[in-house]
Amino acid sequence: MTFSGQMINAETKRLPFDAKHDGRFEGQHILSIGQFSLQDLVYIFDVAEEFRLMVRRVGALELLKGRILANLFYEPSTRTSSSFIAAMQRLGGTVIPINEVRYSSVSKGESLPDTIRTLESYADVIVLRHHETGSAALAAKYAHKPVINAGDGIGEHPTQALLDLYTILQERAKVSGLTITMLGDLKYGRTVHSLAKLLSLFDVKINYVSPEILRMPADLITHLDGKGIKQTQHTDLDAVLKETDILYVTRIQKERFSSETEYNSVKNSYVITPDTLAQAKPDMVLMHPLPRVGEISMEVDDDPRAAYFRQMEYGVYIRMALLALVLGKA
Ligand code: NCD
Repeated sequence: MTFSGQMINAETKRLPFDAKHDGRFEGQHILSIGQFSLQDLVYIFDVAEEFRLMVRRVGALELLKGRILANLFYEPSTRTSSSFIAAMQRLGGTVIPINEVRYSSVSKGESLPDTIRTLESYADVIVLRHHETGSAALAAKYAHKPVINAGDGIGEHPTQALLDLYTILQERAKVSGLTITMLGDLKYGRTVHSLAKLLSLFDVKINYVSPEILRMPADLITHLDGKGIKQTQHTDLDAVLKETDILYVTRIQKERFSSETEYNSVKNSYVITPDTLAQAKPDMVLMHPLPRVGEISMEVDDDPRAAYFRQMEYGVYIRMALLALVLGKA
């Protein structure tokens, strides 16, 4: 399928397409998904698509030659961290990777603002993952270089939401009119918080399926209500499986629970198996931000509807686009 950012516009009634973009990404932070308009999405996805084709054709570019990314991760990461590194390197830039903050001065008690001030004197852009909600905004307050939020506690994960939406477009060529079901840990999962906000720009229906104690935060539901988004809540996937176009599965976020007993009471709540898919639409798209810890059986991996590995790859192109845009080079 040939992707075009214009697809978004064709699928939404909410905003007219404005082909002129004022380039206001240059030097900007990426902190919350709420900062993006539909025009921004069209622009980002068009740049990502261009990079996807270029990587396929030539492997790497020199667009960000001489530029340095500081990749600062206070929480574990495989995909987000390495895809930002891959993105920077594919664009010809280099990376200061700080994955193990315990080996950095953070373990000596250095504050986040001081660590940010340090890294920005060596790098041109900072990607930050941190366990506290609001940490990216705090870092941005002190930074003179762009800060990109790669996950702030249970808050947001905006670059993941962008790659999730890009995946939906790649897989289904539209967004509006779709029914999206989010399953699993909707309370602590930051990816679903950002994705639900992003989807509210479109004409979609969202179903939330979770254990009672892991429901989507009420303020987020109210926020989407205010935007006219139809939402339903369930504990049982069967209630909505048959109508679902996109099934977005998430991991129960063990590290966010205050008690092990509470985690154990919900840890195996849902498992997607070939039987689940047998009852789903033939063109349903099965997504997961990964890592999975048992909520999608490996037997499902070869089903063409399983999109989670493709979803990972799309993340590199989205992150290439974001790096190039904030550095004013797209
Ligand atoms: C997610 C995260 O860190 O929020 N992972 C990711 O970035 N792909 C999801 C998770 O940890 O469950």
